[in-house]
Formats: sequence, structure tokens, C-alpha cells
Amino acid sequence: MHKLAVAGTGYVGLVAGVCFAEVGHQVTCVDIDENKVKTMRNGISPIYEAGLEELMRKNYATGRIDYTTDYKAAYKDADVIFIGVGTPEQPDGSANLSYIATVARQIAESVENDCLVVVKSTVPVGTNDKVEQFIQDFLVHDVKVEVASNPEFLAQGSAVNDTLHAERIIIGTESKWAEERLMAVYEPFHLPVVSVNRRSAEMIKYASNDFLALKISYMNDIANLCELVGADIQDVAKGMSYDDRIGKKFLNAGIGFGGSCFPKDTKALEYIARQHGYELKTVKAAIDVNKDQKLSLYKKASKRLITFNGLKVAVLGLTFKPGTDDLREAASLENIPLLLEQGADLYAYDPVGANNFAAHYPAGKHGKGSMTYVANVEQALEGANVCFIFTEWREIKAVAPEAYKRFMRTPLVFDGRNIYRVEDMQEAGVEYHSIGRKV
Ligand code: UGA
Repeated sequence: MHKLAVAGTGYVGLVAGVCFAEVGHQVTCVDIDENKVKTMRNGISPIYEAGLEELMRKNYATGRIDYTTDYKAAYKDADVIFIGVGTPEQPDGSANLSYIATVARQIAESVENDCLVVVKSTVPVGTNDKVEQFIQDFLVHDVKVEVASNPEFLAQGSAVNDTLHAERIIIGTESKWAEERLMAVYEPFHLPVVSVNRRSAEMIKYASNDFLALKISYMNDIANLCELVGADIQDVAKGMSYDDRIGKKFLNAGIGFGGSCFPKDTKALEYIARQHGYELKTVKAAIDVNKDQKLSLYKKASKRLITFNGLKVAVLGLTFKPGTDDLREAASLENIPLLLEQGADLYAYDPVGANNFAAHYPAGKHGKGSMTYVANVEQALEGANVCFIFTEWREIKAVAPEAYKRFMRTPLVFDGRNIYRVEDMQEAGVEYHSIGRKV
């Protein structure tokens, strides 16, 4: 078993650290935030993720994982140091690498043994060559340090499971020594490993995410066409899904993709291509379709209603997808400001994300409109003139079509996630608008 350090305790770093401990490695997770470290030592995760806290507590109790702000102590004699800090999007679409650079510098100043540095964060192709050079330039002790790329494929909401049962581990290295050391860390997981060079590994991450983003945007594009020609996108997707070459997953049309990855990684790869004088037309199309898609429901509702002014609007779901409290690039963040601007009184329900949303839009007046957070679906629907569904939480999918008829003043529903059968809503007497299907 190896002595590992993990830099960054966001989705990527914390989940990786906990799972490495779970398979038997000795792990120290490093974060700059003293409070966060204290909380994690108490078994409380800074992110909402099913099953994570249980593993945090279990492995902390056995002493296999610890959390610290003392990076020097953590890096000093680690066999392998994983970097899982953020690479947020900059206004021009490029990735901000300043967190990676800070950690690389700290590693260079701390390591006293030969060590492999493994970058899990999504970084532009070629970045890890630079990270290696950067560490060499600032190394204090005379030790060997190499850098490997090991992109992460976990999805929020199923992060622990995705890590322990990943479909593949991608390892990008430039030497046998690095390859073998990283393979050894993953050996206890018993998962398929694809070993390639560093730049290919970096590209696999972008190419995979952007392919999935493209798949969703393609389905959204086809959905919009379905509405015009009288086809049903869910039937179309079902018919497509039987073809193994297309697959059953990620065929759901909806209100566009959000989160911290697809929006950022499509723009980043498009930027990388542009830097090389190449126009990445397919990915550009995925970005364009997604931008329009996020407002498609609002546009439909605006056509249907004369005004939102003074209307009670029920909002079901705020997060970018179920199973997470993350709001990054969520459709709700695009639509709600427009509704408030128009003078709507919003009653929002989300089983997990309401507090985060309230940090952006506190309860109370917002210009002509207002924001109220409620504890359940019924309170949101009570007396509402119109309802928007932005996230397909289990609690929202469980709402019977009749409930809209019963609780709303006028049962008018705009569903961005196609969670109901059109016929069921019709039967219940609900005017139902969704994506890529007839009204
Ligand atoms: C995504 C990838 O799925 C992970 O493999 C990857 O590791 C991760 O990005 C990352 O780069 O860190 P994530 O953003 O957590 O994971 O969430 P997804 O489940 O992929 O969903 C992304 C968005 O696409 C959500 O807004 C979701 O509602 C939307 N989506 C997904 C659709 O609109 N239709 C679908 O059929 C599937």
C-alpha cells in the first residue's frame, strides 16, 4: 500500500482521497481552508454526495485518511501526490490554471523523496508537460519528480460509486517508472486501465466530456425539430437507443446541460482549438445549441402568457441535476432572473439546493418580483398560475399529475425534463408543455 497525498478537497480530490483510503492506501488530503479541514475531520463532507460521509468516517476511524492544511508535512514523503484542484473557466473560455500552479510550487518546495505527481484536474492538452517543468524549476531537494495525467470521470451524485466501479482508469505517463507507480496505486481497484502518453490522456478527458455534451445537444436540437414536425423525442430516443452503436445513455432531451464540467470543458476545448488556428465546429455547435436550449422553456411560456407580472410561479428543482446541491450552470439560474425581472412571484422547491440558491437570490423582493423558498411541492403549487420544472429530483417525479390540477390555480406546467407522459397530464386536465413533444 502507498502513502498518498491529495491536493484539493472538492469533488475530484475528496472523493478520490476517500476511495484510495477505502482500498487500503494511507491518504492525507490537503486543503487551504482550516474550517473545511476541521469539518472533514468530524466526518462532515463539504459537498453533498451520497455515501461519501459514511466512507469518510469509516476510514478516518481506522486512521487511513486524514485532512490537513499543512501541505509540507503531507507532501514531504508521499509516494504519489494527486492534484484535484479546480480549473475554472475564464471569461474567454480558457481554463484558469492558477490553483494547479500554486500546488505545483508547494510540491516542489516540500518533497524530500522521489515522488510521482498525478494531475486529476481537467487541464488543457500539454499542461502537464509544463507542470513537470515548473516543479523541476522550483525543486528544493535533489529528488526525482515526474508528472502523470489521470483524468477523472466521476459524475456528481454518483461520485463514490463511479470511482470505486469506474469503467476505465486512464493513465498518461512519459516513463515506465511513472506508469508502474500509478498502476500500483490502482491495482487494488481491479479496474480496466488504459495506459497512454500524457497528452493523449489529457485529450481523452475533453474528448469524452465534449462527446457527451454533443450527444445531449444533438438530442435537444432534434427535440426542437420534433416539435415542429409533430414527432415525439422520447419515442425517437427510444428507437435510437436499441442501436448499440448509439447506446441507451445520454439521449434525454431537456433544458440543456449544466454543471461544472460540460459547459466548461466544451468552451475550453473550443478555445484550445482556436489557439491552434483550428475551428472545432462540432463542439461549437454543442455550445450554441445549449445556450438556446436553457431558455427554450421560458420562451415557450412567454409566448403562452401575456405577462408574468403578478403571477404566482411554482419552480420545481433548482440544481443542475438531481443528487447534488450544485447550481453551477443550472438552467434555473438563467430562467429565474428573467421571471423576477418580469415581476413574477416565485415559490421554489428543491430538496437540497434551496440554501445555495438563496445565497444568490435571498427570499424577499427582487425588483418587481419576489422569491420564496418552500419545504415541499404542494406549497410551491398551491394557488400557482404556472409551474416550471427545472430538475428531475425523485421527489418531483413522484408528484402525481392530478396534484397540479388540485393545487394550482391554473394547471399550466412547463417541464424542462420530460418527467411525465403527455397523455397522463392531459387526462389529469393539466396543460402540459415539455421538450420535443406535442402539447
Ligand atoms: C460529467 C460527466 O458525466 C462525468 O463523466 C465527468 O467526469 C464530469 O462531467 C467531470 O468532468 O467532472 P456531471 O457534470 O457531474 O458529470 O453530470 P452529468 O450527469 O454528466 O450531467 C451533466 C448535465 O447534462 C446535467 O445538467 C444533466 O441534466 C444533463 N443531461 C445529462 C441531459 O440533459 N441529458 C442527458 O441525457 C444526460
